Amino acid sequence: MRRDQHEPVGFVDRLADGLRVLYRPIQPDDKQRIIDGIARLSPRSRYLRFFSPLSRPSHDMLKVWTEVDQHRHLAWCAVEGDDPAQPGVGIARLVRQDHDATAAELAIAVVDDHQHQGVGSTLLTILALKADRVGIRTIVAYMLAQNEAALRWFRHLGAGVTFKGDCYEGRVSVSDLLQPSASAGPAMQRFANLAHLVRARLA
Ligand SMILES: CC(C)(COP(=O)(O)OP(=O)(O)OC[C@H]1O[C@@H](n2cnc3c(N)ncnc32)[C@H](O)[C@@H]1OP(=O)(O)O)[C@@H](O)C(=O)NCCC(=O)NCCS
Repeated sequence: MRRDQHEPVGFVDRLADGLRVLYRPIQPDDKQRIIDGIARLSPRSRYLRFFSPLSRPSHDMLKVWTEVDQHRHLAWCAVEGDDPAQPGVGIARLVRQDHDATAAELAIAVVDDHQHQGVGSTLLTILALKADRVGIRTIVAYMLAQNEAALRWFRHLGAGVTFKGDCYEGRVSVSDLLQPSASAGPAMQRFANLAHLVRARLA
């Protein structure tokens, strides 16, 4: 079936706490939603995401973050309810590296009130599926040493993690995420099962 160009792209899911969440691609008019979303992050989450206490992004940053081509720069968000104009719950992006277009750097954040309910995993799954379609083979994430949850998450997803002097670099293969070997650990198997469900919802 051909998708009408005005038909919303994405899908609605329900979190464990009952909140309905719409996953959809980032749009140029998400700039204010991102400003509001950053304000909803705790100081700790903001620091773990931006490596600084960033409170208000510049106009240029917002332009780069929202006016994306979904090929060199892939970006999706989760918003409350099933109305695309509702407040943001989470956001994730992959930006191809200049020196290796088959590797892309991940940036991801979920507002503290809704963390640990699978929003981050769902956003990462969507990006992994999209990345696979546009030739991105490796997802690279930079994580501060105090970001134990993200470091554990990436290690469980099979990432090679190395210390780079001021932070850790995690590198995970998109194909390992989407088609883990039979001997891969339970987190990787769960991720692949989630990818199976998300693929069907995106179809
Ligand atoms: C990292 C982050 C995006 C995860 O989002 P989330 O919606 O909480 O993620 P999920 O609920 O899908 O959980 C992902 C994994 O992290 C674990 N996790 C999430 N929150 C956790 C917490 N507070 N403590 C311990 N583990 C946690 C989950 O158990 C899961 O691991 P598993 O798949 O091995 O079980 C979110 O915690 C966040 O925004 N943190 C601040 C910004 C940041 O650190 N960005 C990452 C830099 S790359």
